[in-house]
Amino acid sequence: MLSRCLSLLLSAGTALGAIYTSFPQLPTELIFDFIVVGGAPLPYLATKLELHAAGGGAGNVVANRLTENPAFSVLVLEAGPLPEGLNYSVPFFQSYLRYPNPRDWNYTTAPLTGINNQVQQYPRGRLLGGCTSMNGMQYVRGPNSDYNRYARVTGDPGWSWDSMLHYFKKSEHWTPPTDGHKTTGQFDPAVHGFNGLVGVSLSGSPLGLSEFIPRSLQVTQELPDQFPFNLDYNSGTPIGLGWSQNTIKNGKRSSSYTSYLAPEFIARPNLHVLLNSQVTRIIQTSQSPKRFMTVEFAENREGSRHRLTASKEVVISAGALETPKLLLNSGIGDETALRSFGIQTLVDLPDVGKNLSVHVGFSVNFFTNSTDTQDSIYLNETLRNMLLDEWIATDGGGVLGWSSSTQLSHWNRLPDSLFETFPDPSSGPDSPHCGAGPSDGLNSATSSGAHFISAMASLVTPTSRGTISLNTTDPFDQPIIDMASLTTDFDIAALREAMKLSLLFLSTPAWDGYILGPANNITNATSDADLEAYARAHSAPNAHVVGTASMSPRGADWGVVDPDLLVKGVAQLRIVDASILPYVLPANKVTWLPPLKPATTLPSFSRRWA
Ligand SMILES: Cc1cc2nc3c(=O)[nH]c(=O)nc-3n(C[C@H](O)[C@H](O)[C@H](O)COP(=O)(O)OP(=O)(O)OC[C@H]3O[C@@H](n4cnc5c(N)ncnc54)[C@H](O)[C@@H]3O)c2cc1C
Ligand SMILES: *[C@@H]1O[C@H](CO)[C@@H](O)[C@H](O)[C@H]1NC(C)=O
Ligand SMILES: *[C@@H]1O[C@H](CO)[C@@H](O)[C@H](O)[C@H]1NC(C)=O
Ligand SMILES: *[C@@H]1O[C@H](CO)[C@@H](O)[C@H](O)[C@H]1NC(C)=O
Ligand SMILES: *[C@@H]1O[C@H](CO)[C@@H](O)[C@H](O)[C@H]1NC(C)=O
Ligand SMILES: *[C@@H]1O[C@H](CO)[C@@H](O)[C@H](O)[C@H]1NC(C)=O
Ligand SMILES: *[C@@H]1O[C@H](CO)[C@@H](O)[C@H](O)[C@H]1NC(C)=O
Ligand SMILES: *[C@@H]1O[C@H](CO)[C@@H](O)[C@H](O)[C@H]1NC(C)=O
Ligand SMILES: *[C@@H]1O[C@H](CO)[C@@H](O)[C@H](O)[C@H]1NC(C)=O
Repeated sequence: MLSRCLSLLLSAGTALGAIYTSFPQLPTELIFDFIVVGGAPLPYLATKLELHAAGGGAGNVVANRLTENPAFSVLVLEAGPLPEGLNYSVPFFQSYLRYPNPRDWNYTTAPLTGINNQVQQYPRGRLLGGCTSMNGMQYVRGPNSDYNRYARVTGDPGWSWDSMLHYFKKSEHWTPPTDGHKTTGQFDPAVHGFNGLVGVSLSGSPLGLSEFIPRSLQVTQELPDQFPFNLDYNSGTPIGLGWSQNTIKNGKRSSSYTSYLAPEFIARPNLHVLLNSQVTRIIQTSQSPKRFMTVEFAENREGSRHRLTASKEVVISAGALETPKLLLNSGIGDETALRSFGIQTLVDLPDVGKNLSVHVGFSVNFFTNSTDTQDSIYLNETLRNMLLDEWIATDGGGVLGWSSSTQLSHWNRLPDSLFETFPDPSSGPDSPHCGAGPSDGLNSATSSGAHFISAMASLVTPTSRGTISLNTTDPFDQPIIDMASLTTDFDIAALREAMKLSLLFLSTPAWDGYILGPANNITNATSDADLEAYARAHSAPNAHVVGTASMSPRGADWGVVDPDLLVKGVAQLRIVDASILPYVLPANKVTWLPPLKPATTLPSFSRRWA
């Protein structure tokens, strides 16, 4: 019936799909089958949602796939505006999208007890495409055994690697590098997709800016046991050092906005996007079964509240921080906690906001003898402008068509000796514990007038679990973000061992004549206790946060959603974002670190860990 109304409206030509920037622009006669709140799932999540789109609803992906069916009308409500300006499309300039950024949520963490009680900034995109419109663009699926663990933990074989691979391929549009170089030996075509929507590519400048890459590759021959070469870390078995794959298409960012909401999709008459509209609550519309079909939203704290009701489903894709906040403000969560805020509990789900899992890492910098590092682009405005002219003239070509994250990716197991003391939290022997290895340059746009190489350590199998909880009931206030990073004995020991691996990588003859000396006093850290103290002083939780509305088996007395992502105890309400993953994937490295001030003069130094 509703769809008939819709098709009548359509034939009257009054309801063409579009992107609206404020509520009054939204044609009042529109009726929506699906309302999607926010929208920016990771590529891997996107693919999974394609799996479920047949029976229901993932942010922009869901909206795209649902509107393939002309009978469905879909509205996406996004709190922020569109990405606008070159910094959002020039991949290298992603580092300019940190602070200050008008399209950021500007979160601060609760005091990080494992990181010397620091309160840190925590970047998060508030714009169409969410973090996929401002992130580091590394395309890392994670190990097959992690998907098989999702399948095991949820009781749904649909989450296994074998099931997921089809959707990875379906979502992916593998694209040749912009310089047209031969890519044989740099990836395995058998595990990629060539007809999907999300662009994925290898760097268009295969040797990068500097000697950094050939020297790194030399280490795979010098220390093949610790750092083997891996043809394709997206094959399901990521351990080793391989060529980075990024969500970049022809030298431009490929986000969930540029791919799933590309002009040809926005042109669909049944797809509508309303920007600058933050959903403040979802409202219960029936008791048996419980349904929450009405969304309430406003442009800002002072703005008037509007309401719209979906006929088939409400799909929440507000991300791992805002989704639990929205549920709690809507009366879905732990009864005791809700009562303390005077919120009536409509669905008692104690795990909303619990079980937060996030990577953690730190990085140390060394002065290098090379003058051809990524730092040059930040330091030298003439060079930067020349490269930008090249990028514009060649429509994405040259060095700027590549993310400023490193061009090589490292995935490592930690030494077995660690697991004499601790249980192994990884999903299996082919799954990494850490990303440990160097990156070219200072790993931050903060220039200090010199050239660097950075040693990074990122723990990707953290055992610490944090929480998202309410601070106030005002939906425009940020929640309390307790990342709890480095609060278990395993996590700090593991991160220490990861840094040792990274320093080992830099200790080989491959780096002779390249590394001049430490720009931070890390080499003063000789004992395990020193290294741990260093890690506690300089770590940050990374941008990859999951688990705050976790999946669990159908009927389980824990978790927030079933394996088909429907909220437990509620009909027609789905969560389709990073919150639903019960374990963070061991994928991606350090993407965000508070600037570490390097020394400006060269201290006396020997590579004494060598
Ligand atoms: C600095 C940074 C670097 C990163 N680098 C990488 C990388 O290299 N590779 C990688 O795979 N991942 C990376 N990530 C992580 C990745 O981008 C996220 O995991 C991914 O976007 C999924 O996040 P999410 O599901 O939490 O949703 P988000 O991306 O946070 O999207 C949520 C969306 O919902 C909107 N929203 C929130 N609340 C509401 C509301 N109430 N009403 C309406 N709209 C709302 C938000 O504005 C946003 O658009 C990075 C993240 C950051 C911040
Ligand atoms: C990109 O960011 C840099 C650094 O913040 C800024 O100087 C520059 O103006 C931005 N460019 C655009 C096109 O917005
Ligand atoms: C975040 O801070 C920037 C200024 O740095 C501001 O322009 C923006 O509006 C803030 N974002 C939010 C959601 O308040
Ligand atoms: C900056 O880059 C330009 C173009 O490559 C080069 O000619 C110039 O020498 C560089 N300046 C410095 C200080 O290195
Ligand atoms: C929590 O709310 C209090 C009082 O409104 C405020 O002072 C504090 O800064 C808030 N904390 C966070 C993390 O936003
Ligand atoms: C740095 O490079 C220059 C030129 O290649 C070389 O002469 C010098 O010895 C190098 N310095 C170190 C410390 O290796
Ligand atoms: C290491 O410690 C020594 C003595 O405490 C100090 O002189 C030196 O500057 C430190 N090194 C760095 C790189 O800070
Ligand atoms: C490094 O320097 C900081 C600040 O100067 C100091 O507090 C710390 O103890 C030093 N660490 C080591 C291992 O020398
Ligand atoms: C957290 O996740 C683990 C693993 O999935 C699960 O066993 C546990 O019950 C969860 N705890 C909460 C509070 O959700």
